[in-house]
Amino acid sequence: MSLPSETRSEGAGPKAPGLPVELVDLVGPDRERGVPVLKGGFVGIYRWHAKRTLRTATWVRAALFRGEVVAVSVLERLAPEVGYVYYLSTSLSHRREGLGGLLLDDAIARFRRDGAQVVYAAAEEENAASLALFRSRGFRMVDRKETSYREGGLGAWGLRSRMTLVGGEVLFGVRLSGAPAEPGPPLR
Ligand SMILES: CC(C)(COP(=O)(O)OP(=O)(O)OC[C@H]1O[C@@H](n2cnc3c(N)ncnc32)[C@H](O)[C@@H]1OP(=O)(O)O)[C@@H](O)C(=O)NCCC(=O)NCCS
Repeated sequence: MSLPSETRSEGAGPKAPGLPVELVDLVGPDRERGVPVLKGGFVGIYRWHAKRTLRTATWVRAALFRGEVVAVSVLERLAPEVGYVYYLSTSLSHRREGLGGLLLDDAIARFRRDGAQVVYAAAEEENAASLALFRSRGFRMVDRKETSYREGGLGAWGLRSRMTLVGGEVLFGVRLSGAPAEPGPPLR
């Protein structure tokens, strides 16, 4: 079976968002700056879990507009070859301006640079915006029964306990294509 892998055209960068934003790492206590955007994106147990994960995740990336966090990604490295987009949220006042896509492209680039071969993400089955966003970057739904990424599929049974999937969520995945990216600055 041939597997879809991330679509990437040579030389094409991420689509520029409508806003002139700067992407930064949020580190240590600075991560709290991402809380308002997460609160705007999630309710109930998701909100609680997103805030908790914000503090412990491998990386938190933020899009800043005039110094204010307008979108945030919470990224976990589940294994050396596996990245996980835990949470992605854009402030309500800046949706559909390209920020979610920008942060997802940024996450994929970071995972690739860090040696990942696959990237997963979870989304609620009814979250049309989220499903469309992941699909637009080549992610596809991962069937629970399929073989693991090591065996050529995208199944992730061994990793699911670390992904904190809840009822109503589906798992998405993409296999990263191409060689490891050019060396960049050291990652924290
Ligand atoms: C999902 C979310 C992060 C998208 O952020 P965004 O900044 O509005 O997304 P973008 O403007 O970059 O959109 C990128 C692509 O995603 C898709 N998309 C985004 N919002 C969409 C919507 N409301 N309906 C349909 N498709 C949508 C489109 O394919 C879009 O590309 P296009 O604008 O060229 O059509 C945002 O809606 C959000 O914060 N939702 C709440 C939190 C959440 O559900 N997070 C995802 C699960 S962790």
